[in-house]
Amino acid sequence: MAEIVGGAAMSHVPAIGVAIDSGKTQDAYWQPVFRGFEFSRRWLAALKPDIAIVVYNDHASAFSLDIIPTFAIGCADSFAPADEGWGPRSVPAIEGHPDLAGHLARELVLASFDMTIVNKMDVDHGLTVPLNLMCGSPRAWPFKVVPLCVNVVHFPPPTGWRCFDLGKAIRKAVASYSSSERIVVFGTGGMSHQLQGPRAGLINSGFDKRFLDCIANDPESLARIPHLDYIREAGSEAVELVMWLVMRGALAERTTEIHRFYHVPVSNTALGHIVLEDAR
Ligand code: DHB
Ligand code: FE
Repeated sequence: MAEIVGGAAMSHVPAIGVAIDSGKTQDAYWQPVFRGFEFSRRWLAALKPDIAIVVYNDHASAFSLDIIPTFAIGCADSFAPADEGWGPRSVPAIEGHPDLAGHLARELVLASFDMTIVNKMDVDHGLTVPLNLMCGSPRAWPFKVVPLCVNVVHFPPPTGWRCFDLGKAIRKAVASYSSSERIVVFGTGGMSHQLQGPRAGLINSGFDKRFLDCIANDPESLARIPHLDYIREAGSEAVELVMWLVMRGALAERTTEIHRFYHVPVSNTALGHIVLEDAR
């Protein structure tokens, strides 16, 4: 059967993609950011997963306000980088895994998660920036990707509990997938940030660090955080952190923290990153 061999969460700040695309990763501002992922890139290269399930949110790139799926799963053969206003990023096409995606869609719907099946979808910075952070800029991505989108841009987003439970259902579904493929799960977004209004630029490092402290072995306390607390404490876009809980739910009850990185500010946001494995 297929197996989940690790999990990671990371912010997906679009300015990171711009820094990569314009050759600025060694600038004084950016160097510490990319250094924070050096260990993670070695970890992932050594792990050699076959597939990554990338839990991210679309920022009105693939989905407009016409249709807003709460949970969507990308079942296509491949996914092109989205044009977010400046032309598509020149990163490799993302190869999908329609067979695993189809299995997940079936198992998750049967487990009462009403997934939207997406057979054609461009993917934005929410997915491509995490791939760069974890893999650098290779000619081709080293694994196939099942994109799993969560609506966190339009009220009402799903609760933290629902996301945590979705992760657990993904773990079960992977365990019933007859293949020897090894799978990592990424949860993207966060940490504290607010991009508009009088509180634009809000960063709450205390909130972020407590979140990082709890994700490995007290995720239930995080799953209980109501939307209003994210907004009040950590800014309107901090609710992206519910996607970390999908990743966490897909791991074992006890996990080992392999790596942690926190850096402020990156663009207007706090960048957080964690690497977890099931506890042995
Ligand atoms: C920004 C956008 C995001 O989607 C995000 O998660 C963080 C930052 C931005 O525009 O700076
Ligand atoms: Fe975002």
